[in-house]
Amino acid sequence: MVKTLIKNGTVVNSTGTATADVLIDGERIAAVLAPGSTLLGFDIERNVDTVIDAAGKYVIPGGIDAHTHMQMPFGGTEASDTFETGTRAAAWGGTTSIVDFVVQYAGENVLDQYHLWQEKARGECAIDYGFHQILSDVQDSSLVAMDELVNEGVSSFKLFMAYKGVFLSDDGQIVKAMQKAASNGSMIMMHAENGSVIDLLVQQAVAAGNTTPYYHGLTRPWQAEEEATHRAIMLANLTGAPLYVVHVSAKQAVEQIAVARDRGQNVFGETCPQYLYLSLEDQLGAHSEEWGDFEGAKWVCSTPLRSKAEGHQHHMWQSLRTNDIQMVSTDHCPFCMKGQKDMGLTDFSKIPNGIGSVEHRMDLLYQGVVDKQISLERWVEVTSTTPARMFGMYGTKGVIQPGADGDVVVYDPKGHTSIGMPEAGLDKTHHMNLDYSAYEGFEIDGHVDTVLSRGKVVIDDNAYLGAKGDGKYIKRGLSQYLI
Ligand code: URP
Ligand code: ZN
Ligand code: ZN
Ligand code: ZN
Repeated sequence: MVKTLIKNGTVVNSTGTATADVLIDGERIAAVLAPGSTLLGFDIERNVDTVIDAAGKYVIPGGIDAHTHMQMPFGGTEASDTFETGTRAAAWGGTTSIVDFVVQYAGENVLDQYHLWQEKARGECAIDYGFHQILSDVQDSSLVAMDELVNEGVSSFKLFMAYKGVFLSDDGQIVKAMQKAASNGSMIMMHAENGSVIDLLVQQAVAAGNTTPYYHGLTRPWQAEEEATHRAIMLANLTGAPLYVVHVSAKQAVEQIAVARDRGQNVFGETCPQYLYLSLEDQLGAHSEEWGDFEGAKWVCSTPLRSKAEGHQHHMWQSLRTNDIQMVSTDHCPFCMKGQKDMGLTDFSKIPNGIGSVEHRMDLLYQGVVDKQISLERWVEVTSTTPARMFGMYGTKGVIQPGADGDVVVYDPKGHTSIGMPEAGLDKTHHMNLDYSAYEGFEIDGHVDTVLSRGKVVIDDNAYLGAKGDGKYIKRGLSQYLI
């Protein structure tokens, strides 16, 4: 078994920071020691295979992206990153675990879909991976499947209040799934947007000739998000199910979550880098020489980017500090401009919804530390520790401590990362299978230097040393946020 010593680094956990050496034996962290310690008289450094000098650098638990959609069939096409390319890109960016979504469309059998997704991912991933299960129609067999899936390590179920005819569950179906979650201890995840209202606004916009990507934002207003968030909270309250609201973008939705939490309800909120950094005005309303008004298609995702004039982005950073929002995932769902996004060239409603950023989440959130939006420890908490606890992986993942998996990132605060600079060529600055970058031109005052996945060095300063199939399935427990 390979032994690795990461010495002299600043070890950052969500609970605090200390200068320490981290000894990894095989796949696990064996010890966290004062720098230069010996073990029973043995000089550790002389007895390991690899020594990584992390002086002046942060040593953090590997990132956990709890919301990704690798090769997801959606919007008449399929997300452009496969489990292979997407998890490799994640590793480049310091993420060592993902939780992806098994898709069940109406009429399909939940367990069949689960087995299909296990087949898709098996042997393909560069890093460890788990699954949530999407439920669309909630059949009797789906309720039975929910119990079976919890035993398989799938302890969270995503429902949609939007995308009628594709994913949408009506309130009765939602309540049925919530009742089951309340009884088996699993988590309900909610895409909270009022789908009927959105469908009407979209129809009206297209009929009026308002077909550019900007109207994607205008036809999914914050009221539709606030209303659905409130409704989901009330249905969860009624049933006693815990509720995790995914990809929250509107400050009014955050307020609904905060009120419910203050009342003592088990309600949690996730946001994404796009809702912290990007806006309706600057991105959905963008123009370029190549694409004209269609440039904004690069950022068509749901919930949509919000108006910066209304202050949603500012409020979202604040919510991360105050814990009204608990964690940050990417909702990585990439579609190329050529051949995918351009299906909606003359009608924004035909643009496949999604943004790819699994590679950039750790860097983008670290920039929040540099910009004094969040503390160093909070960075680790919202990108790794809380995702681990929220989805039943904490202790093995999400922390640097003896017994935890050797999922470790050495992060250089004096390094620099340029995202998607055109003169460098996209392939040099990102590794996602995506023909543009949603963060092109972003400059990060930090750099992912070394990444270990269960003790194996997979990224060593700008070289990928891992292999497809390194990643193993994570059989998750119940959320560690629930009693
Ligand atoms: O636009 C998005 N978010 N695409 C992925 C599917 C979802 O709703 O999470
Ligand atoms: Zn969603
Ligand atoms: Zn998603
Ligand atoms: Zn470097």
